[in-house]
Amino acid sequence: MNGASPIDAPTPRRSVLAVPGSSRKMIDKAKALPADEIFLDLEDAVAPLAKADARAQVAAALTEDGWNGQHKVVRVNDWTTPWTYRDVSEVVGRAGAHLDDILLPKVPDASHVQALDLLLTQVEKEHGLEPGRIGIEPQIENAVGLTNIDAIATASPRVRTLVFGPADFMASIAMRTLVVGEQPEGYDRGDAYHHILMTILIAARTHGLQAIDGPYLQIRDLDAFRRSAQRTAALGFDGKWVLHPTQIDVANEVFSPRQADYDRAELILDAYEFHTSAAGGSRGAVMLGDEMIDEASRKMALVVAGKGRAAGMSRTERFVPPTDS
Ligand code: GLV
Ligand code: MG
Repeated sequence: MNGASPIDAPTPRRSVLAVPGSSRKMIDKAKALPADEIFLDLEDAVAPLAKADARAQVAAALTEDGWNGQHKVVRVNDWTTPWTYRDVSEVVGRAGAHLDDILLPKVPDASHVQALDLLLTQVEKEHGLEPGRIGIEPQIENAVGLTNIDAIATASPRVRTLVFGPADFMASIAMRTLVVGEQPEGYDRGDAYHHILMTILIAARTHGLQAIDGPYLQIRDLDAFRRSAQRTAALGFDGKWVLHPTQIDVANEVFSPRQADYDRAELILDAYEFHTSAAGGSRGAVMLGDEMIDEASRKMALVVAGKGRAAGMSRTERFVPPTDS
C-alpha cells in the first residue's frame, strides 16, 4: 500500500494494553477492559523460566469466551532468542483463528519480518487457517531498526503498524535517562524523541500503516501519561501502549478527535462534495462559515473524520446545502 490515508485503516488502536502472558489474573481482568487492542506478552514481561508455561496459557486464553471485541495480539520473543519458533508454532497452532496480529519485537531489518511471515504461512497451512490473515506489528526498538524502517515496513503484506519501543530504543542509543518517555536531563531544547517519532510516522504514512507509540512507565502519574500521549497524538500517531487499566480511557480520549473537530471534519467533507458537484456550482474553493475550504482542506478533514469513524464516533451536526447555490 502506498500513501493510504488513515481513513482506510478502520481498526482502531488508540489504546494498546500490554498484559503479561504469565499472569492468569491479569489476562482474566484484561478480557473485559475497553482497550482497542490487547497484546498478551511472551517477551520482556515474562521471565525466561516462565516462558513455556506462559505460551500454553496465552494460547488457551485466546480461545476462551469473555473477550470484549478487542483486537487480539501476542508479542512473541525476538528472533535472536531460543523461543520465537515455538512461540509462533504453539500459539498460532492452537489459537490462530482467535488471533489478529503477532507483535514482533526488536526488529533490526526486513529479514526478521520475512522469517515470521514464512513461518506464519507454514503454521497457518498446517492448521487449516487462512494463509496471510494474521498481521505483523514490527517494533522499532533500536538504531538499526530505525535506519532500516522502510524495508521493515514493506517486508511483508502482513505488516499493519510500526510500533515504537522507547525503553529498548533509549538503551540502544545510550540516551542518558532512566525515565522512559521523559526528556533526558541536560537536554533543555526541543524534544529528544522528535526525530525517532517522526521517522516512524513518516514511514507508516508512506506505506499506509498505523503508527503506534510505546509505553509510559510511570503508571501512577496519569497527568504525565496524558501529556506524553497528547504529544504523539498531536503529531499524528494512531495510538499508544497502556500498561495499566487507568491509562485506557485517557488513551482512547486523547487519540480520538474531539467531538467538535470530528463534526467540523464531516461538515467540510459534505460541504466540499456538494460545492464541487454540478448541483453545487462545480466550485473548487468555497466558504464554509468564516473559513475558505479547498482540496487540501478536504484531505485534512479526511484524516480527522477517518480517525473519528474508526473510533465509532457519531456526528452531532448535519450539512445543510445553502438554498441560493
Ligand atoms: C517496549 O517494548 C519498549 O522497549 O519500550
Ligand atoms: Mg522493548
